[in-house]
Amino acid sequence: MSFSFSKEAVEELKNRIDIVDVIGRTVQLKRAGANYKGLCPFHNEKTPSFIVSPQKQIFTCFGGCGASGDVVSFVEKYYNLDFNEAVQKLADEYGIEIKKKEYKDDREKYYEINREAARFFYRNMTETVNPGYTYMKNRGIEDRTIKKFGLGYAPDSWDALYNYFKEKKTDEKILVELGLLSQKGDRYYDKFRNRVIFPIINTAGKVIGFGGRALDNQSMPKYLNSPENRIFQKKNNLYGLNSTRQDIGKEGMAIIVEGYMDAISLYQSDVRNVAASLGTALTENQAKLISRYTKNVVLSYDSDEAGRKAALRGIEVLKEENCKVKVLHVTDGKDPDEYVRNNGRAAFLQLIDKAMPYTDYKLEAAKRGLDVNSEEGKLDYMKRISPLLSQLSPVEADIYIRKISRDVGISEGAIKMEISGNNISAGESRRYRPQHENGSDDSESISPLEAAIIKCLLTDPALSEEFLEYTGAVENPLAVKVIDIAFEFYGMTGDFNLADICDRLEPSESEALEQAIDKVIITGNEEGVFRQCIHRWKLNSLEKQEKEIIDRLSLADEENNRETVKELTIKLMEIQEEMKMHGGKM
Ligand code: CTP
Ligand code: MN
Repeated sequence: MSFSFSKEAVEELKNRIDIVDVIGRTVQLKRAGANYKGLCPFHNEKTPSFIVSPQKQIFTCFGGCGASGDVVSFVEKYYNLDFNEAVQKLADEYGIEIKKKEYKDDREKYYEINREAARFFYRNMTETVNPGYTYMKNRGIEDRTIKKFGLGYAPDSWDALYNYFKEKKTDEKILVELGLLSQKGDRYYDKFRNRVIFPIINTAGKVIGFGGRALDNQSMPKYLNSPENRIFQKKNNLYGLNSTRQDIGKEGMAIIVEGYMDAISLYQSDVRNVAASLGTALTENQAKLISRYTKNVVLSYDSDEAGRKAALRGIEVLKEENCKVKVLHVTDGKDPDEYVRNNGRAAFLQLIDKAMPYTDYKLEAAKRGLDVNSEEGKLDYMKRISPLLSQLSPVEADIYIRKISRDVGISEGAIKMEISGNNISAGESRRYRPQHENGSDDSESISPLEAAIIKCLLTDPALSEEFLEYTGAVENPLAVKVIDIAFEFYGMTGDFNLADICDRLEPSESEALEQAIDKVIITGNEEGVFRQCIHRWKLNSLEKQEKEIIDRLSLADEENNRETVKELTIKLMEIQEEMKMHGGKM
């Protein structure tokens, strides 16, 4: 199902239905003070600890299974439905009409505008006398290649594109978002000026962004690229793949290059199974993308330091996708573009034939800066390569050990000893937990947000009921333990305090807990503070989700997977709406 209901409609539905009535149909409920009590339908129990609150319109199991939520989540859980299905079921049962939300994917508009811009640039390139064309001719690019890749020219003007779109009454905001215009106060001007334009087209055939090359080697930046936006994430695309994926499939192999010019130049030379990673390091998603078409990848990067580093990184991400990786660095000229122009297709194909399997490449790379003829150099070399060798299968290891032994003159036995030594120390080091990304070890301690929540709960244990919906807000193991203990007390007695909890903790844990909550100062209004904490946590986690969905959307676009795009778009809308409710960006 890929429709959705608006937040307001669901709220209204919830207001018109009584949770006690809904749950009472399937669970025998008895009044207990202000609440109702019954046997929890989500786990086996003999004494009732399943509480339904008519005031708060929520249910909560204090018997350990932790089930809790509102009327919709009860129906979801009890009948095993998803959210929309549960809402629909309730609406049907109570004869309430509920409006479905219109699904609209306004990214189509963005693609269309980019396509318009690409056409504008292309016409400039092909229908006028312009320096961009001369520049490409000087670089050996033929008309058929310009046509194949839709290369364009952005005129040397501040408002050529702006005026073009103004006539079409295109929304300037979108043009700015797409990075086609810049805005200064209430003035707009063209972002790409006097540049050759490379439209970036995804495998679904949509123009998602642009790269623009300056016509000389002094202007900065040499390449100006579209900014990241809702339809363009550089890390999710490979330049040229839209035109070359059939060739890649046919050849059973892909050549990954760094730059726009490398890709189109190889293509023009009839080496068509090529795509560019646009910048140096190959990303995880680019590796995933290419591995859909072939598992055989040749990395053909510049022969400079950056290119070598990028190759080593690229090997790792491609290995993750189970690709067979080889590496080649051109020997003449700085990059594949120059090489193939100087030496032609046949010479480049020979380089491919001689490309190094990744293990050989890494072994070779490890020699850099060392004199492996000296004793010291041999020692350092062994240290560098033994982690690599210990990752190989026994058969591979055997082959490479023999090779290395011959290559640098160390006995096979000594190499084997070195590797097994490495294995032991690797095993040991694994016992230590890696440090937190930012180098601090605060992953170990209760966060300020968690501490504030715990403090609020301690000040007003009744907040526990509200908190049940948000237990995800605590992650730190000690904080989780504290909350678990608190809930257990709350279920049994409706109350808890710090002493209760500390009794059940290790001395070091109590100390850590007390330290954490001592830092939190609450002067009355713990309910307000508590809600703020929840909002802040909610917002953080929504922002994370938003990022992830935008990321997945661009991948779904690559696959042209309409259903997924639709579902994700709806989810994105919902998340953004929810963010507004928690005080997030509008
Ligand atoms: N790149 C970029 N921005 C820059 C420089 C480089 O986005 N300021 C990206 C481009 O995709 C470029 C690739 O990195 O194609 C490789 O950069 P580089 O080797 O410097 O350029 P070339 O591809 O060799 O470009 P050219 O041949 O036009 O000089
Ligand atoms: Mn180049």
